[in-house]
Amino acid sequence: MVGLGPKHPPSRKGSVADIPQDLLKQIKDFEDEFTVNSATLKKVVDHFVSELEKGLSVEGGNIPMNVTWVMGFPDGHEQGTFLALDMGGTNLRVCEITLTEEKSAFDITQSKYRMPEELKTGTAEELWEYIADCLEQFINSHHENEKVSKLPLGFTFSYPATQDYIDHGVLQRWTKGFDIDGVEGKDVVPPLEEILKKRGLPIKVAALINDTTGTLIASAYTDTAMKIGCIFGTGVNAAYMEKVGRIPKLAHMNLPADMDVAINCEYGAFDNEHIVLPLTKYDHIIDRDSPRPGQQAFEKMTAGLYLGEIFRLALLDLLDNHPGLIFNGQDTSELRKPYLLDSSVLAAIEEDPYENLEETEELLERLLKIKATPAELEMVRRLAELIGTRAARLSACGVAAICKKTGMESCHVGADGSVFTKYPHFKERGAQALREILDWAPQEQDKVSIMAAEDGSGVGAALIAALTLKRVKAGNLAGIRNLADMKTLL
Ligand code: GLC
Repeated sequence: MVGLGPKHPPSRKGSVADIPQDLLKQIKDFEDEFTVNSATLKKVVDHFVSELEKGLSVEGGNIPMNVTWVMGFPDGHEQGTFLALDMGGTNLRVCEITLTEEKSAFDITQSKYRMPEELKTGTAEELWEYIADCLEQFINSHHENEKVSKLPLGFTFSYPATQDYIDHGVLQRWTKGFDIDGVEGKDVVPPLEEILKKRGLPIKVAALINDTTGTLIASAYTDTAMKIGCIFGTGVNAAYMEKVGRIPKLAHMNLPADMDVAINCEYGAFDNEHIVLPLTKYDHIIDRDSPRPGQQAFEKMTAGLYLGEIFRLALLDLLDNHPGLIFNGQDTSELRKPYLLDSSVLAAIEEDPYENLEETEELLERLLKIKATPAELEMVRRLAELIGTRAARLSACGVAAICKKTGMESCHVGADGSVFTKYPHFKERGAQALREILDWAPQEQDKVSIMAAEDGSGVGAALIAALTLKRVKAGNLAGIRNLADMKTLL
């Protein structure tokens, strides 16, 4: 679309002069509800730190702090060929990765398959069959007529799973809108391996990993200052390396206290009790109407899956509870469809470069069949900014909490996920929040910087499989289920 109005800077105050008083009052109310000031951020982080600790304790807490059995960082000299499977929300990706002789280098071949929406609420059998179809297709097209020896697979399963071993993972509960019966409470590796065996595919699961752990390891492969791996996407979460001696729930295993092990925090579950998070009425509705009420409180305020829905609920509130205030005389039935708007819509609104917000106008017409007035467009823009800003500022709390908990004053944080890579201003807003929380002096350089990560569920998964085989060879058998089985991959 060609814009006629003059362009304005991406983040601007908007022209309030022409907005009617009653709408201005609503904007002000939204500002009050969605703004998270420094004091609140700090309060959130303090509680976050104690919740991280609690998750590592024997009693446990809301945040699972799952032990991943990824024991230490790569040194850049890992080698071999691995398969990686990433079961994401939108796509299923299969990769073959060869970690080459050159330090921190790799070759990658990959195929993406669409993850059908119905699968997310289908049966467990359909899920495993679909995954096996994709793996089979990949092997057939990349290794046609070849005799392939058994390939180690790094399976990125980005949901909370407790692991007694690295090739094991009991799904605690589905997150991110998945709701497949018969998987929660069970180890997800055996059904996958069973179906691979049935189809005669030369693949064995060497490691089950979380996307955050993959991100941490892949990022550290090329930048040794990377100490935290984060995802700001459909869901939110982070992983970091902890000393075994600081994990009370592992004490019974008598492992060396100075051994490193990656912890998948699963901190989307932070503050499920609603003690410090500044929830609005829209956050309560999202929770109430979600497949898992009472869970993933932090994620529901910050992750890509929910941002568009928060926005839709806020508009609906104006429509229903302030009759005549917005979208007068228009058919607003589209706006009543739950989850109609995803976070890319908010991103597009925030990115509209035109003074008259003509791209936003066009977007609302196309998606909601609503013709907004200039004043309504200003309100919509401000609402998107408020929701996006709140998400970025709260997201920074998880990173700050890990830094505080571990006493890490400076580090790089590898981040991935659609919100981090595509949502405008997310990085700057998060960085600003970190400055406020960690009290850096105004001229001081940022000591903790959140930067783009390496490919966690591809290269990261391969590296974790490689690290696992390497330590099996070296005799470090912590978290190894079946030594004979693992040895078939050496
Ligand atoms: C959800 C999942 C978690 C994942 C995150 C980002 O929080 O439970 O495992 O890391 O989303 O994808």
